[in-house]
Amino acid sequence: MKSIFRSDLFEGRVAVVSGGATGIGLSIAEELASLGANVVLASRKRERLVPAARGLAEEYGVQVDGVVCNIRKRDDVESLFDHTLERFGKVDFLVNNGGGQFPAPAESIKEKGWNAVIDTNLNGTWHMCQTAANKYMLQHGGKIVTVVADVERGFPGMVHTGAARSAVINMAKTLAVEWASRKVLVNCVAPGIILSTGMHNYPPGIAENSIQRVPLKRLGSCEEVAGAVLYLLSPVGDYVTGETIKVDGGSSLWGESWPIADVDTEGMVEIPPWPEQRWPQYALKE
Ligand code: ADE
Repeated sequence: MKSIFRSDLFEGRVAVVSGGATGIGLSIAEELASLGANVVLASRKRERLVPAARGLAEEYGVQVDGVVCNIRKRDDVESLFDHTLERFGKVDFLVNNGGGQFPAPAESIKEKGWNAVIDTNLNGTWHMCQTAANKYMLQHGGKIVTVVADVERGFPGMVHTGAARSAVINMAKTLAVEWASRKVLVNCVAPGIILSTGMHNYPPGIAENSIQRVPLKRLGSCEEVAGAVLYLLSPVGDYVTGETIKVDGGSSLWGESWPIADVDTEGMVEIPPWPEQRWPQYALKE
């Protein structure tokens, strides 16, 4: 998908994109590169980083670096921004796209699995935001966009990531206010069900089966999510901060995501009696 923005819009700008070597992150990095930005891709997997960085640089004629970085580790995150500042002298945009989760009923999630999902999606995002702010953005301004998930109605089947993403949405609101005077804008984009490489982590057929519960009756694309991120990073997003934009085909508004078993109706609540039925001796006579 070709960008709707002017091809030199981000010339000379520098963006860090976590989880930027695959899926939605790669689409975001690609659109940034196509608009002239130099990009630093951060990911844990060198085998994906190298081809992504070289491919983007070659295709769009910008500088693209790949840095191996586990966002859960503060030291890795510090090195990522040190590298970016040494190489480019600035960091205008931070896109937190790196994250992950696994589907499981709440009662079966082990402590290790819970902690891992919270650590990546909440703590990792926090490390990235605070480090970018302290090392550069609080002095020079900048924009932070975090790709979260559509958690408005809770997140049945993935309670860990629902809790973490909800916390990140709240964190964006707080940082938007605390850092407004430093010209640091902080927002989120919440994708619904997107056909992306992340789908490989879910059982086969889950995406196709979800279509029926999306009002627009189709899945979203990585490019459609990237478009919302680019809007926020672009000058037309300059008056938007603390916001979360859903890109979900309406799925947060309608449709069943988690079937609830029939409930035994015995013991169901009853409508309480009027006072004159409860204490007939005091009922007013007409
Ligand atoms: N993408 C998913 N998990 C990640 C992590 N821990 N660090 C960087 N990118 C990631």
